[in-house]
Amino acid sequence: MDTSAIKVQENRLRKDLLDLAKYGETPGGGLMRPALSDADMEARLWFQERMRQAGLRVREDAAANIIGRLDPTDSTGASKDAPCIAIGSHIDAVPNGGRFDGALGICGGLEAVRAIRESGIPIPVPIELLVLTDEEGAHFAGTFGSRAMFNLLIEDEINRSKGPERPSMALSLQKIGKNPALIREAVRSPSEFRAFLEMHIEQGPVLESMGVPVGIVEGIVCISRYFIHVAGKAGHAGTTPMRLRDDALVKAARIITSVNDAMVAAGPDIVGTIGELNVYPGAFNIIPGGVQMTLEIRSMEESAIQKSAAAVQEIVGSVANARLEPILSKGGVFMDPAIMDAIELSCRERGTPCHRMVSGAGHDAMTFPPLGVPTGMIFIPCVEGRSHCPEEDIRWEDAAAGVQILADTVMRIAQNK
Ligand code: GLV
Ligand code: MN
Ligand code: MN
Repeated sequence: MDTSAIKVQENRLRKDLLDLAKYGETPGGGLMRPALSDADMEARLWFQERMRQAGLRVREDAAANIIGRLDPTDSTGASKDAPCIAIGSHIDAVPNGGRFDGALGICGGLEAVRAIRESGIPIPVPIELLVLTDEEGAHFAGTFGSRAMFNLLIEDEINRSKGPERPSMALSLQKIGKNPALIREAVRSPSEFRAFLEMHIEQGPVLESMGVPVGIVEGIVCISRYFIHVAGKAGHAGTTPMRLRDDALVKAARIITSVNDAMVAAGPDIVGTIGELNVYPGAFNIIPGGVQMTLEIRSMEESAIQKSAAAVQEIVGSVANARLEPILSKGGVFMDPAIMDAIELSCRERGTPCHRMVSGAGHDAMTFPPLGVPTGMIFIPCVEGRSHCPEEDIRWEDAAAGVQILADTVMRIAQNK
């Protein structure tokens, strides 16, 4: 298929990304834009307007996913209700995160749609642009929007949070005027999707070190998430002798170092991280009475994760009043071979070097393959491999090259060639 008439505009993409980065910006150049926070809500409104300006019909579902739809061109005779090719990513950010994680996928998706429309090439399938809610897990376990879309939420998930002072998704949905009891209205059939494509920064150093602007994702690691709960005895920090204490944080510290040692011993193809700690009640002068920590383990090999989880269970079980609570396991998926080939062909025709690789980061694209939706991901390099931090940066020419490949690939899949 000849895609040469599709011309992605780097300036337009850059302006969108820089405009979006103003929502939730911090003085250090990072972002505070957790899902459904005030900054996120402002960003979402701004982006919906940009979607409308690009000719998309925009709606929001019961899970606060933003769905923009472009009908097929009349002359193709294609049905408006035919399965769509969806492009999606997220607008929320990790705490003090960077400007491009998720943002590149939605702004890139928007630019791809604009460039496809402007090319005048008839579009033979509906195209959707999806902004999926709380990919980063500000409320609970992440990839909320894409899992809600396919009825994959775990039991009572919307009422749970990451600690007493953290909002549940139900509370946040209420705050923005949605009824959490209606969350199932967000559910769609996988058969509505002919393909799902996500473009993202690599979030690691591989592409930059190779000097290659486009990564073709072959698979996404399996991510297993847990809480570790540690109970101690709260008491006065001045009057209780050291030998008579049951300090939950001290016990948690032992668990943290032991889990880290176990993960190092597990080998180079698996990682484990305790990334969030809540100490209760949390004061100078109170012996910690409780700790809740998050743990995640990632590997392409699910059996390796199970082995490490068993080691963690042993560590946690050896500490008095500590408990490991599995939350969910997601990912461990492979991208569609035909879509990978379509991306590679698009790269070849544009003369854009590319490299096939596995993603150690999680993405909404993990949700689709187990449902039988052919899925593909395009990476571009990030400067020094940095991500999930304010230093996260890209080169604009790589971003434009990646979006060009995205747009070409969408049309290639649409034409089935
Ligand atoms: C998403 O950023 C993840 O890998 O957790
Ligand atoms: Mn992220
Ligand atoms: Mn992301």
